[in-house]
Amino acid sequence: MNLAVNIGEKSYPIILEPGCAQKLPEILQQRFPGKKFVLITNRTIAALYAKLLNSWESQLDLKSFTVPDGEMYKNIETWSSILDFMLGSSLDRTSVAIAFGGGVVGDMTGFAAAVFLRGIDYIQVPTTLLAMVDSSIGGKTAIDHPLGKNLIGAFHPPRLVLVDPQFLDTLSPREFFSGYAELFKHGFVGGREMFKFVQKNHESMLSKNADILLEGIYKSLSVKANIVEQDQFETKGLRALLNLGHTFGHSLERFFNFGDILHGEAVYWGIKCAFETAKQLKLMTPENEATIDSLVSRMKMPNLPGAIDPKKIYEYMFMDKKTESGRLRFIIPVEPGKSVIIPDVPKEVIQSVLSIVFS
Ligand SMILES: NC(=O)c1ccc[n+]([C@@H]2O[C@H](COP(=O)([O-])OP(=O)(O)OC[C@H]3O[C@@H](n4cnc5c(N)ncnc54)[C@H](O)[C@@H]3O)[C@@H](O)[C@H]2O)c1
Ligand SMILES: [Zn+2]
Repeated sequence: MNLAVNIGEKSYPIILEPGCAQKLPEILQQRFPGKKFVLITNRTIAALYAKLLNSWESQLDLKSFTVPDGEMYKNIETWSSILDFMLGSSLDRTSVAIAFGGGVVGDMTGFAAAVFLRGIDYIQVPTTLLAMVDSSIGGKTAIDHPLGKNLIGAFHPPRLVLVDPQFLDTLSPREFFSGYAELFKHGFVGGREMFKFVQKNHESMLSKNADILLEGIYKSLSVKANIVEQDQFETKGLRALLNLGHTFGHSLERFFNFGDILHGEAVYWGIKCAFETAKQLKLMTPENEATIDSLVSRMKMPNLPGAIDPKKIYEYMFMDKKTESGRLRFIIPVEPGKSVIIPDVPKEVIQSVLSIVFS
């Protein structure tokens, strides 16, 4: 299954095929003949996929670099170590970096590629569900800062995304469930057909039915690609729709210090809050409300690591970098497959939503 993100000169293909990782050397030799490659991954993936990595290294002019595993290492020190490695690898401007891992490796490698020798090409080989349906496409690259997540970065689209769903076989059930939140989210912003698909196949995807999951990843990639094509730099309001559930979600993540709750887990709670907000603001017809409810109520809600303080959750919403000059922007579902941006939802509404959802 082939897709593309069509953004003019910088357009890039997405290859989605179970087992395609085995063919990576062939694909790269064809698309980047005679080039030098550097591959960035983390310790967990390097250990799990040592044999695959060896086979890639033996077929390509490729050197690998391994970083520690975890969001806490998505920082300037690790990023700088990647640049050191690149500088010591006799690369030139035509060399190509490969991000082999989840969103953390993808974001850091992309950002290193964005600045190394003023920018080199890179490709994404995502290994988590979140990276497959979300972070590996769209061209956003970043590292975290003690003051907040993803505060330092660049828009730097990859040249190719290679999605092999077989990597999901080794992913932990918790990470799989967390990543699925982003696919599920696309059901609320990706049009009526995507909504219907998620409605019909939600449980099958969660139980990893391979064919249906493959179709879900394909549809999800199409939704994201389509939105990115229309609003590459998030200036037209459209790309913001992908933040459904994220204003609430980021605040929950901050409340639990970004450690005890995974990003996608927070997004499930955020989607529930967004739906409750739509109900309170009476933004849906009774028929649409019932249809959307029939899906939202089937969400398996992840356990929260502790009790919620709704006051703090509200306060932390203003610390999100997506907050525009102190104004909160919410993405709210209004029809199956359609959400809208609502600025300035009254404080009382948000407080009431938080107390309903977290009571
Ligand atoms: N650039 C974007 O547009 C964008 C979008 C969404 C999220 N993000 C970023 O993505 C990051 C989250 O990504 P993530 O959820 O992939 O987390 P992650 O990269 O930390 O991966 C989660 C865990 O799964 C492990 N793992 C990865 N692949 C595996 C596999 N196949 N088998 C077994 N274990 C595996 C990793 O080692 C890690 O421990 C965050 O930093 C977030 O800011 C970026
Ligand atoms: Zn997200």
